[in-house]
Amino acid sequence: MHVTTTDAPIGVFDSGFGGLTVARALLDQLPGEDMVYLGDTARAPYGTKSIPEVREYALECLDYLAETGVKALVIACNSASSAVLRDARERYDIPVIDVILPAARRAVRASKSGRIGLICTEATATSASYDDALAAVPGVELITTPCPLFVDFVEAGITGGEELLHAAQDYLLPLRESGIDTLILGCTHYPLLAGVISYVIGDDVTLVSSAEECAKEVFATLADQGLMHTEPRTATLRFLTTGSPELFTGIGRRLMGGFVDQVEQVYTFAT
Ligand code: DGL
Repeated sequence: MHVTTTDAPIGVFDSGFGGLTVARALLDQLPGEDMVYLGDTARAPYGTKSIPEVREYALECLDYLAETGVKALVIACNSASSAVLRDARERYDIPVIDVILPAARRAVRASKSGRIGLICTEATATSASYDDALAAVPGVELITTPCPLFVDFVEAGITGGEELLHAAQDYLLPLRESGIDTLILGCTHYPLLAGVISYVIGDDVTLVSSAEECAKEVFATLADQGLMHTEPRTATLRFLTTGSPELFTGIGRRLMGGFVDQVEQVYTFAT
């Protein structure tokens, strides 16, 4: 067991590159905090896998990060959050922050009509984790559309172009017609597609990014638990991948810019 100190880094985990949107939001909101990011790219995507399989992979990755001595764990993946959230809170003696509850809360505040759209992976849709998160809120109707191709586009580094536009129209136009006023980007890959999503759905629909909301929750948790660095400092970022470090660096930089550096490979897990 590790003693948690303010000096320890934050552990951030995703199936692949999507969690980098959370890492970037964390960097914006908590620039003085060190971070260790683990992308399970060798086993991504998670969104097309069964919940028990996602659960097994996610717990392996979270155990690995917890063992490195991080001060908080951020599950920067909706599919993984859907599969492990309850277990993870009980399993670790450090704060565990997910993407689902903060995004669901923000969507309720943002929506005037109570008609909220959710786009996500098949795994997140099947788990009904957002339905559960919103179940106790009166007057909310959640309309869920899985968008499986979106993750493939992002993992290939594609964030624009005709093919993506057509996929976005197929997924989003029926949602627009359903009269939603708020749309949860319920997959951490999707903020990288916010341009095309907003273009198709229309800017009268408020987009709620699970990445942004999760970063706010991390800030609040560190502040409340006295775990935040308060003096000015330059943070260290470490990136780990279960797949190819070259690929991770290449796509990571294309999507997120120069802060993706020093990528190391983790060999521990069976693929
Ligand atoms: N970024 C992950 C999420 O938020 C899913 C990507 C995947 O399918 O691996 O659900």
